[in-house]
Amino acid sequence: MSDPRTIIITGCSSGIGAYCARALNKDGWRVFATVRKPEDVAALEADGIETLVMDYTKQETIDALVAEVSQRTGGRIDALFNNGAYGQPGAVEDLPTDVLRLQFETNVFGWHELTRQVIPFMRARGKGRIVQCSSILGLVPYRYRGAYNASKHAIEGLGVTLRMELDGSGIFVSLIEPGPITTRFTANALAAIEAHIDVENSAHAREYKRQLARLDGSGPINKHKLGPEAVHEVLLHALNAPRPRPHYLVTKPAKQGVLLKRLLPADLFYRLLRKTD
Ligand SMILES: NC(=O)c1ccc[n+]([C@@H]2O[C@H](COP(=O)([O-])OP(=O)(O)OC[C@H]3O[C@@H](n4cnc5c(N)ncnc54)[C@H](OP(=O)(O)O)[C@@H]3O)[C@@H](O)[C@H]2O)c1
Repeated sequence: MSDPRTIIITGCSSGIGAYCARALNKDGWRVFATVRKPEDVAALEADGIETLVMDYTKQETIDALVAEVSQRTGGRIDALFNNGAYGQPGAVEDLPTDVLRLQFETNVFGWHELTRQVIPFMRARGKGRIVQCSSILGLVPYRYRGAYNASKHAIEGLGVTLRMELDGSGIFVSLIEPGPITTRFTANALAAIEAHIDVENSAHAREYKRQLARLDGSGPINKHKLGPEAVHEVLLHALNAPRPRPHYLVTKPAKQGVLLKRLLPADLFYRLLRKTD
C-alpha cells in the first residue's frame, strides 16, 4: 500500500480547522494540524492527529513547522490548507493602523510565508494542492469589517495570481469562500472588537451596540449558517479533482452575493449591501 498523502492544516483548535483535520484523517490523509496554543495540542493528538504549534505572527514557528513536517515525511508535502485566521471588526475610520497591521500579520503575511515555504517541496515532486480558506468577504465586502474584508481581498489577489503563475507546475491553488459557518469565529471577533475598538467614543457607537448584540448571540440568528462539514466537502474536491476550481463558494448567502455583484450596477449593489449584517 502506498504512503498516505500529507497535508498541513492550520488553525485546528476549533471550527473549520478542527473539523477538517479530523475528517481528512478519517479520509486517509496524514494530517499535520497546527494550533497556536500548546494546550490545544492534546485534544487533536488524542484523535491520532500529528499536531504542531504554529502562530502565523511568529516567523520562527512557521520555520519550525515546515522543518518538522518535511523531516517527518522525507520532504513529502502534498497539500496545504491555510485556514487559521480571525476577524477584526470595526468601522474603517476607527481602526488604529497597528490593529490593521495585526490583522494582516495573521491573515495575510503569515499565510504568504507558509505558502512560500511549502512550494519548493511541491515543485520538487511536480505536484501539490494549496487551498486558502478565504471568505465571501474576500469578494463582497460587508460594513464594519474593513480590516477583515481587506485581508481576505488580499488573499484572493495573491491566490489567483499564484494559481496562474503555477500553471503547468502540477501545483493548483484554490480559494474557498464560505459564508456564515458555525464556529468560534464570532466569539473571537467579539473579543477583537472589545480589545481594539473604542466603541463609546466612536461616531458609530449606536451601530456598534446593535452589532455587538448580534455577535454575542442576543441578535437574530442567521438561518443560512452551515456547519464546517460544508467546507470539508469542497475541500475534498479542491484536493482530489484532477483540475480543482479556483473558487468554491459555500452557503447560499455567499452564492447570492457573488451573483448580485455580477448582475447589479455597482452603486445599487453597494446600497443594497449596506443593509446587510
Ligand atoms: N466562520 C465563518 O463564518 C467563516 C466565514 C468565512 C470564512 N471563514 C474563515 O474560516 C477560517 C477558519 O475560521 P473558523 O470559522 O473556523 O473560526 P475559529 O473557530 O475562530 O478558528 C480560527 C482558528 O484560527 C486560529 N488562529 C487565530 N489566529 C492565529 C494565528 N495568529 N496563527 C495561527 N492560527 C491562528 C485560531 O487559534 P486560537 O484558538 O488559538 O485563536 C483557531 O484555531 C478563517 O480563515 C476564517 O476567516 C470563516
